[in-house]
Formats: sequence, C-alpha cells, structure tokens
Amino acid sequence: MGEKLVSWILFLHLLVIMSSYGGSRARELAGTENKLQAISADDEHQTAHTHHHHHSHVDPSVMVFFTLKDLKVGKRMPIYFPKRDPATSPKFWPREKADSVPFSLNQLPNLLNFFSFSPDSPPAKAMEDTLKECESKPIQGEVKFCATSLESMLDFTHSILGLESDDLQVFATSHLTKSSVTFQNYTILENIMRISAPKMVACHTMPYPYAVFYCHSQESENRVYKVSLVGDNGDKVEAMVVCHLDTSHWGSGHVSFQILGVTPGSSSVCHFFPADNLIWAPKLQAHGLSTM
Ligand SMILES: *[C@@H]1O[C@H](CO)[C@@H](O)[C@H](O)[C@H]1NC(C)=O
Repeated sequence: MGEKLVSWILFLHLLVIMSSYGGSRARELAGTENKLQAISADDEHQTAHTHHHHHSHVDPSVMVFFTLKDLKVGKRMPIYFPKRDPATSPKFWPREKADSVPFSLNQLPNLLNFFSFSPDSPPAKAMEDTLKECESKPIQGEVKFCATSLESMLDFTHSILGLESDDLQVFATSHLTKSSVTFQNYTILENIMRISAPKMVACHTMPYPYAVFYCHSQESENRVYKVSLVGDNGDKVEAMVVCHLDTSHWGSGHVSFQILGVTPGSSSVCHFFPADNLIWAPKLQAHGLSTM
C-alpha cells in the first residue's frame, strides 16, 4: 500500500513536470526513428559519405546520435539538449477535451480555424507536420501512436507492455544544473547504467497547440541506458539513451545515417533523449537497474 502511494505521488509529480513541459521544438527526436528529413536533399547529397566529425553545416539539433562503441566512460562528444521554456510549452488536455477535437490531417482547415491560426503561419505549418508525422505508416516491426492526452499515452503503453500502472516505470533525461547552453561537448562519466527493458515505449513531444506525444515501440533489439554527462561548461546531465541494434528497416535517408556516416543495418544507432521525452518500461522486480 505504501509503495502504491509512493508511485502515485511520483506519478503526480511526473504529471506536473510533463504538463509544464511538452515541447515545441521536438521534431528532431520525433523524427529520430521515422522519416523526418532534417537535412535537405541537397545536404544529403553532400554529407552522405562524410564522417560525423565533419558536420559544420548540420543543424545542431540533430547532434544526438552516436554508435554503441562510443558509449564508454571518458568519451567526449558534442550533444544538443533542447531547453524548453515550461511557461510557453503546450499543456496536456484532459482526454475528454482532446477527444472532442479531431486529430486528423484532413481536418486541418477546421483545426486552424478552431485554434485561430492563419494557414501560412509557423504554428499552422507545425500542426500540419505533426499530423503528417502522426499519420505516416510505421516502419516494419514498429507500432506507433500519437497520444493527445496522458490517458491515451498510458493506454497505448499498457497495450504494448501489457501491465497495470503499478508495474510501469518511466525514465527521462534530467538536467542537474541550470544553464541556457543547448549545444556543447559533454564527457561520459562513470556508472553507465543499462536499464533492463525487454520491451519499451518511447514517447517524443510534438509541436502542437496542446501536448501531443509521438509514442512508438519496435520489435527489434533496443537497449536503454542512463548515463551521467558533464558539459565543457560544467553542466551536469543524467541522460537517457536508447540504442537500436538493428537499423536494417530504417530508410536510407534517415538523418542519423548521414550524421554517423553509416548505412541501414550496418551499425547500431544510439541517441540521447531531451528532457521532456519519456521512456516507458516494465518495472522488473528488484533488478530494474544493473551496471553495464
Ligand atoms: C567539441 O570539441 C571539438 C574538439 O575539441 C571542437 O572542435 C568542437 O568545436 C566542439 N564542439 C562544440 C559544440 O563545442
């Protein structure tokens, strides 16, 4: 009973955190395992064969990728961590409210009208991109769902992990220091923790007038890690990492391949999670964490 209460309190705490975040610049990761092309076709052409040390013209927001062999203590690499302003981030809507508004690309004109966005405005474009991303077909071996409320995110997570609320755990990157630096070199400190998660659901914030999470789960082997990072400026981050061991079903235009200079299936791809993205996993008795 006591444990139940604690997890409920943690859950409420999470709710508060999540409702104060919920980003507007999350496309970089929402597109991590799907078809987002963060680099134009032109850039793609130029960077296809370059190694990740030569990325000077690449948008820093895609600097979250690395390969498993670089996941080691002492490794230093440039990483982008978005810092979102909680005050202006979209809030969760209760399920009843979210369900009363269509969430569909073919309703876009009505939705723009509903939210009073003019058709060519940046928020209108963001809504369109989010709806497109949400309606895109999952890749082979992937199940995806855009959650328009916390309740629907939990329902989806349960449907994949097949558990009661008590048996779920959620992980997120946390910034232990306050600073406005979003892109710098970080060094991996000791205690790389592998979280044993036979199955997981990753949820990425999407730009939308209210909180929308792109949640998905892949059949292929994934690993979840928690790593301690220190930035060149002294920033400390407890960062969540997911490594995809099988990338053979990913499109060859995937931005990570361009950053890392690898091809589908030839290499693992790992990525850091921004603070407002979530990783859900079953809670395993006593052995949730183990050192690598
Ligand atoms: C990271 O360090 C390398 C080598 O020390 C440097 O060339 C690069 O500009 C740094 N990147 C950032 C984002 O500070």
